[in-house]
Formats: sequence, C-alpha cells, structure tokens
Amino acid sequence: MKERQESRIDRILQHELFRYHLEENRKAEAERVFCRHDMNHFLDVARIAHLMNLESDNPMKKEWIYAAALLHDIGRFVQYEDGTDHAEASADLAMDLLEDAGFTGKEIRIISDAIRYHRDKRVKEDKGLPGILYRADKSSRRCYLCPMEARCDWKKKKKNFTLEI
Ligand SMILES: [Fe+2]
Ligand SMILES: [Fe+2]
Repeated sequence: MKERQESRIDRILQHELFRYHLEENRKAEAERVFCRHDMNHFLDVARIAHLMNLESDNPMKKEWIYAAALLHDIGRFVQYEDGTDHAEASADLAMDLLEDAGFTGKEIRIISDAIRYHRDKRVKEDKGLPGILYRADKSSRRCYLCPMEARCDWKKKKKNFTLEI
C-alpha cells in the first residue's frame, strides 16, 4: 500500500510549538470549570467549519479550514497570563507554525486574519474563512448540556440551547 503523504495539517500537529502551546493551555485550564480550549475543541470547530464550508456556494481549501480551527485558540494561555486578547495572541503564534508547515505568505495572511477576528461580531455573517470560523467556534459549545451554563458569562443569545443541524 502506498504511504500517505504528510499533509500541512499533519506538520502543524507534529510541530513542537503546537504541542507546547496546547500544553500551556492545558496547564492554565486545569482547574477551569467552563469550556476549555483543547484539542477536543479545536477538532469540534474543524469538523463543523468543514461542514459549513462544504455547504457554501464557494468552498475554500479544506486545509485552510483545519489550519484555522487547530490554531484559533492556541494562545489562550497568553490571555490568562497577561490579559492579551487570545484571538490576537493566537493569530501571532499561528504565523510561525503556518510558515513551518509550508503555507504560502498569502495563505498565512488569510488564515491568521480569520484567527484574529474569530471573536469579532463584525465577521458573524461573513461568507469567507473569518465568518465560518466565528460561527463554527460558537456553535461548537454545548450550552444545552452544560452544568455551568448559568454561571457562564456568554450572553444568552450567544449560547446554544438547540442543536443546529
Ligand atoms: Fe477563542
Ligand atoms: Fe474557540
């Protein structure tokens, strides 16, 4: 059987900085009772964003979707440390990883911009990568089953009380 070629997404997964940032998030959230920013969340966002992309009129490269989803919260630990918005921190940290994984300058701009704006309401309706990442991120959270929902500071209308299909 032919060996599967390593993808740029695999290169992100194997990158020591990706693993380091994930571990920093894990340590920073060890006692956290609300939603975490771990590999489960990254993959939930990737799968949902992938489906949204498939349903769009003008689908973009699957690798962009996965790269953005895997890296969008990679700098969450920085926000715990010094208050920097984690969308900014994650976008900045993503750049080196994307470059090392082999993405072009143009792709790095597209993916890191989507990460930078993943919490910005202005991209909510956007048809491109920023909008898909924003919506997939929000809809990945299972507020309808969450025991901490009443104490979570997300605005009511942002929370998911139904399962979008
Ligand atoms: Fe986030
Ligand atoms: Fe997120």
